[in-house]
Amino acid sequence: MASSPQGWHVWTETWPKIRSYSINQRLKIGIVGETGQLARAISQSQAARSGLTTFFNRQSLDLSADPEDLRDALSKFDHVDVIINAAAYTAVDRAEEDQAKAFAVNGTAPGIIADYCNKRDIPLVHISTDYVFNGQSRLPYMPEQDADPLNVYGASKLLGEKAIKASGCGYVILRTSWVYDAQGQNFFTTMLRLAETRDELSVVCDQFGRPTYAADLAAACLSAAQNISVDSVKYTGTYHVSGSGPIISWAEFARAIFEIAKPYLKKNMTVHNIPSSEYPTPAKRPSYSALNISNYEMMFDSQMQDWRSSLQIAIDEWQKTN
Ligand SMILES: NC(=O)c1ccc[n+]([C@@H]2O[C@H](COP(=O)([O-])OP(=O)(O)OC[C@H]3O[C@@H](n4cnc5c(N)ncnc54)[C@H](OP(=O)(O)O)[C@@H]3O)[C@@H](O)[C@H]2O)c1
Repeated sequence: MASSPQGWHVWTETWPKIRSYSINQRLKIGIVGETGQLARAISQSQAARSGLTTFFNRQSLDLSADPEDLRDALSKFDHVDVIINAAAYTAVDRAEEDQAKAFAVNGTAPGIIADYCNKRDIPLVHISTDYVFNGQSRLPYMPEQDADPLNVYGASKLLGEKAIKASGCGYVILRTSWVYDAQGQNFFTTMLRLAETRDELSVVCDQFGRPTYAADLAAACLSAAQNISVDSVKYTGTYHVSGSGPIISWAEFARAIFEIAKPYLKKNMTVHNIPSSEYPTPAKRPSYSALNISNYEMMFDSQMQDWRSSLQIAIDEWQKTN
């Protein structure tokens, strides 16, 4: 085990690769957002492969469509027992300019899907974000704490949560943070791509949270879908899910990525701390958005992986395809 300059530890031995969840083989799950990192991780899970899952992409279900058209299109779900909405307008900075679309996809569409679920008496698993909070806390946010988004993306996701709650359907809202996968475009793959051409990087050191590996979030979604299908009254609610383990800054996350990926990198990477003020972005971000995951772990009787162990698995996955 190696100690980082910040005092938390990066495990260098192989971590247990256990993601235990089991899905009723006859549960028919409809998943919106086929091309996103979360839906891809769901599709790669053993549980999804052995179950009856149907994926919908933007072509088969456009969440920014006119509400009437979207209502009509939802008949495509008539055969499913539960819906997982993994789709969202996730371009946090672009949302500041493209407000109407962000609110349509993240605010209005989830409400329309929830109304459909309510009418059919099937449950909805929906994903929301740590960016519903304003970052003033210095303790991990509890699900019942007041939301106060700082940016359009957070406000649009909060609207979606409220619409789902108002619909009367059985729902699990999973708020998560800092989602990454071994492929696609995210902080993790960006850091490793930059490492091909650079040997030092500056990364913000004053925004704190916890990373979530897409496969861990996928497991949480499938577990939520399974449980809410069995008992919608017991499980309906808002929960927080992220990797467990130390709360870190983006700069510390970058260092952890480079430390674990060291055997596969051509050179040692140096990460310099910079304040957010030196990396201005159109959207404001909360300076602290760690989530308290205990109510999810208790209700669903499962433990979120330490982000350091998941990072090791992600690096192994990344290395296989690079
Ligand atoms: N990524 C993060 O760091 C993070 C953090 C907190 C919460 N979350 C939440 O976690 C969930 C999953 O995120 P992710 O990282 O998997 O997102 P992602 O990789 O950006 O994928 C988003 C998905 O939504 C689809 N989508 C966007 N606009 C659409 C529309 N108008 N109609 C239909 N589909 C549309 C995209 O389709 P196209 O490929 O066609 O664009 C894509 O499949 C989201 O609810 C997100 O808000 C993410």
